[in-house]
Amino acid sequence: MNERRMPSPPANPVDATSWESAAASFPDPFRLIVRDRCTSTNDELRRLGEDGAPHGLVLVAHEQTGGRGRRGAPWHSVPGESLVVSILLRPAEPVALWPRLSLAAGLAVADAANDFGIRALIKWPNDIWIGRRKAAGILVEAAAGFAIVGIGININSSGFPGELADTATSMKLELGAETSLAAWLGAVVGYLAARHVQIGSGFPVLLDAVRDRCALTGRRVILDSAAGRLTGTVTGIADDGALVLDTDHGKRNVIQASEVRLLD
Ligand code: BTN
Repeated sequence: MNERRMPSPPANPVDATSWESAAASFPDPFRLIVRDRCTSTNDELRRLGEDGAPHGLVLVAHEQTGGRGRRGAPWHSVPGESLVVSILLRPAEPVALWPRLSLAAGLAVADAANDFGIRALIKWPNDIWIGRRKAAGILVEAAAGFAIVGIGININSSGFPGELADTATSMKLELGAETSLAAWLGAVVGYLAARHVQIGSGFPVLLDAVRDRCALTGRRVILDSAAGRLTGTVTGIADDGALVLDTDHGKRNVIQASEVRLLD
């Protein structure tokens, strides 16, 4: 009998052509490497950084099997639906300023979303919200001489498992249409290239853009800071990037905090 053979699936499901066209739009010296699968793009890129990989190396993975979020939480991603990418930076600015890269990366995602017609907000310090749902997360990790900026964006997800179902959203759910992961990659890297240099003397410009997109200003929140648990209304972002909170005990500037939860 003459059996009809189904075409076999490609050995590597990464669409190399479209990643390459995104990479072609990267400004110098940004360049791309693609992994079909890795545990965490942040961990993989950190290893490359320790071996001397240069400033601007971008690592994207089709599948991430052990993606990490802040405070060691797992990061949910689905091949073909989620953009998982890490970018190695060797900033000229002092290490003390590198935490500002979270804001730069958040803005890069929000700027990219704007190109797709989506108004995304920054939930200080490093979540991207659309409305009151999280569409992307950022994990900046410092190592000796370099920083890894890890970015996860829900792009073509139609739904989310477990408790994420109530808190997460995707670009597809917001737009009502799928968009190209590679096109997002090109946009995010382009904007990050412009924003990451603003963590030093350009910080006032970066802050103005963050203030314009701050999801928390005017909202009542609760958070755990170095000074303990604080409840209050966010009045804005200070000149050093701290969240300014109006509490029952006066104004507090919060530089670092656990999850900031909305109370209203
Ligand atoms: C968070 O919101 O808690 C941060 C999520 C960061 C996820 C990204 S996906 C690419 C990179 N690799 C990781 O393991 N984490 C980051």
